[in-house]
Amino acid sequence: MKKLLAILSVVLFANQASADQLKFEIGDIFSCVTAGNGEKEDHPLGKGSLCCSISSIIFEKLSKELIPTHYINMVGANKMICKTVSIVPLEVICRNRAAGSIVRETTLVEGAPLPQPIVEFFLKDDSKHDPLLTPDRVRLMGYNPDPFVEMTLRINDYLRQMFYILGIDLVDFKVEYGYDAHGDLYLADEISPDSMRLWKIGSDERFDKDLFRNDEGDIVPAYREILDRLQPLAIQ
Ligand code: TYD
Repeated sequence: MKKLLAILSVVLFANQASADQLKFEIGDIFSCVTAGNGEKEDHPLGKGSLCCSISSIIFEKLSKELIPTHYINMVGANKMICKTVSIVPLEVICRNRAAGSIVRETTLVEGAPLPQPIVEFFLKDDSKHDPLLTPDRVRLMGYNPDPFVEMTLRINDYLRQMFYILGIDLVDFKVEYGYDAHGDLYLADEISPDSMRLWKIGSDERFDKDLFRNDEGDIVPAYREILDRLQPLAIQ
């Protein structure tokens, strides 16, 4: 098995399942959680399969909304088959409220609602500490930012409403994209509480990786709560 990608939240292992499909394993043994560009690390048991199940439900819901995703199906607790795509080296962030880096780097206060959702780009390169990019810099890297903005806002519209119904405020999230051999754009990677901020509506409770980042609690029960809330939607 080939170690394909080491991303912030999970270690993904990939097998060639067929000519244009990859089998991703979000393994429990390997499912580490990291923060601070890898300075802080843990290996909570069960996180890999929780993230895999949550990602799979979200990918399936987005596919029904006609968002093209690399997800094909789940094959076991922590494995998914995905279409092979070439990953664009951009972390695409959408924000509905101020939290995290936008609070650290601007005058906005934590929790401030944004007048409209915004999409930002960060370079996907740990060795350069994932800097914030301007759209001009994205263009100079050879990518038109417009399709990423358009698809990310569509994803946000759907997910924000979906989480709202589940009593959760989608504060922000990160997505990644890839192109297939025909040059078609797909939502890729994973979408889980490792890459989102999920706040319980009407309370201070958090269900995301900030619990780990800020030493505020155990992520496994929090992620399980998200999966429990999402599960009824999976059969609809
Ligand atoms: P951001 O506030 O920019 O960074 P930080 O979490 O370090 O304060 O992150 C916005 C959202 O995107 C948040 O939910 C975490 C997620 N994210 C990732 O999952 N990976 C990344 O590389 C980045 C930059 C953000």
